Order: sequence, then structure tokens, then C-alpha cells
Amino acid sequence: MSDHALADRLAGRLAQVDATLDAAVASTDALADDASRHLIAAGGKRFRPLLTLLAGELGDGADPRLVDAAVVVELTQVASLYHDDVMDSAPVRRGAPSVHSVWGNTVAILVGDLLFARASALVAGLGPEAVVLQSRTFERMCLGQLHETTGPAAGADAVEHYLQVLSDKTASLLATSARLGAMFGGCADDVIDAVTGYGEKVGVAFQLADDVLDVASSGDESGKTPGTDLREHVPTMPVLLLRRRVERGEATPSDIDLLARLDGDLSDDAALSAVVADLRGHGVLAETRELAVRWAREAAAELAPLPDGPVKQAFDDLATALADRAV
Ligand code: IPE
Ligand code: IPE
Ligand code: MG
Ligand code: MG
Repeated sequence: MSDHALADRLAGRLAQVDATLDAAVASTDALADDASRHLIAAGGKRFRPLLTLLAGELGDGADPRLVDAAVVVELTQVASLYHDDVMDSAPVRRGAPSVHSVWGNTVAILVGDLLFARASALVAGLGPEAVVLQSRTFERMCLGQLHETTGPAAGADAVEHYLQVLSDKTASLLATSARLGAMFGGCADDVIDAVTGYGEKVGVAFQLADDVLDVASSGDESGKTPGTDLREHVPTMPVLLLRRRVERGEATPSDIDLLARLDGDLSDDAALSAVVADLRGHGVLAETRELAVRWAREAAAELAPLPDGPVKQAFDDLATALADRAV
């Protein structure tokens, strides 16, 4: 099959995913219905459904369960964003006001739960293996978010801890998205495991690129407010690398000053813009970019067991594109 035919097939399947998503979140309660549709209607990259459908193309990409699996992973993603934006006090998501900033925290949390419930109902139709996979993924996402909040244990390496946080809160769902696709494509076990390994690594690359974008992008590109993580003192790789330089005595006086400002009050817009500008030109941002590229390269190496062809090439291109977001 040519690249063109693959792209057409995927576009057709993604349209089915959107239609199924729409039906899956319908509610007779007007508030629940409105709030459930809010972020889905706002857009998003649909990256997780794409991984599922693409992995499905390694086998029988026509199995209708692939569409349901793609909807399950996107519902899980969207629900986690409802909760994440409450935790991170993020005002904007997918270029739209976040759910909590429209309806308040209580509605955002409850409707996020409602979306998880809808994902559970849908995954039940995919059988026990998918249910267990989805529940373990959900658990890892919760633990990742929890460990991000608690930070490393005393004496533990903060950068290693953070990489584990990224694996759990983000990569777990990307790995499961690809795995479900290969499973319902009817692929052999080595292919299922290869795309899972790819998802685990590309997920870390993806989130490291996201950390770069929080500093380096304009809000128009990302659909989010730049500096949100910095303002809320949510740990990100550039800040952890800067802190490590300071702790190791490798920092310049201006590094020490920047870290103090990052740890201080950033509620003032001018103070936030100043730290964002200083980080943009800083070596720790370049170091984070390099890490993202390295994880993306390792993700691509996981694809070795896949047969050569447009699907493998598409996975490879995706890894490059994800890391390039950070460059
Ligand atoms: C946002 O994910 C949450 C992270 C794990 C970084 P995406 O960047 O894939 O967001 P959407 O789904 O396209 O909105
Ligand atoms: C989001 O992580 C992870 C999950 C939703 C599980 P972040 O908080 O780092 O992502 P953004 O920057 O808000 O998209
Ligand atoms: Mg967030
Ligand atoms: Mg967060």
C-alpha cells in the first residue's frame, strides 16, 4: 500500500473516531452534555487515536474494534486533561478556555470522571485483556501525576524521578494506544511488544518536547498559555536541569538568580515573561531538546521487528516530528 492510500485510510478512520466520540459522550443532562463535549469540540491532535489506527494497519486495519479502541484512548486522554487543568490551574486548553475556567473545579472534576466512566463502558466491549490494559494505564497515569506532585523521595535523583513521572503520566497512554491497535489489528506478539516499546519511548520524547514548548512556544502554536507550568511551579525538565547545575556547584551567578526567581512568586506577568525569556536562551533548554531527540531516536529503534513499509515509515516519521516540535 502506498503512503497516499495509508493517509486516506487513516483520515477516513479518524472521521469514524470523531463520530464515535461524539456519540460516546452524549448525555441527556444538559450541563454534563455541554461540559463533556467542550474539549473534544475544541480540537486536539488526536495523536493517541492515530497511534491506535496506525498500529492497526500493521495487521487488519479494517477491524471495527480499532475505532472503539481509538475512542477509548482519546476519552481517557480528554478526561485526564479535565483533571490536569484543575491541578495545574491552566486557563487555556486546545485553544479554548479550560473546562474549570468555564464551569469551575467541581464540574471539571466530575465531568472528567464521567468521561472516564464512558471510556470504561466502551472498553468493556473490547474484552478483558483491553479492560486490564486500560485500568493499568489509568493507574500509571494517576501515579505519574501523584509522583509529579510529591516529588522525589529524599536522596533520590530528581531527573530520574521526573523521567519516571513522564513515563507514567504520559508515555503509558501512548504505549497502550499503540498496543491496542496492534492487538486489534491481529498482529504477532513481537509486533505488539515493539509498538508498545515505541509508545513508551516516544511518550517521554513527547512530554520533554512539551516542556520545551511551555517555554519556547507562543500560545497560538500550542493552544496553551506559555509559562503555565513555571507559574504554578510544576516541575519541568529545564528547571530540574538548572537546579541540578546549582546543586552541583556548576552554576553561574545568573543561573542562581534565575533559579531563585523560578522558585519565587511568578503571579506577576512581567516576572513570568522575564523568566521565560531567560530560559529560552539558556543551555538547559537546549539540553532538554537534546534529551527529547535522543528519546525519539530510541523510540524509532524499537521499530526494528516491524516489516518495512509505509506503516513503519509513518511511525518513524512521527518520532522525528515529535522531537522536532522541540527544536
Ligand atoms: C497533552 O497532550 C497532555 C500531555 C500529555 C502533554 P497532547 O499534547 O497530545 O494534547 P492534545 O490531545 O493534542 O490536546
Ligand atoms: C499532562 O501533563 C499529563 C496528563 C494529562 C496525564 P502536563 O500537565 O505536563 O501537560 P500539559 O502541559 O498541561 O498539556
Ligand atoms: Mg498541565
Ligand atoms: Mg500537569
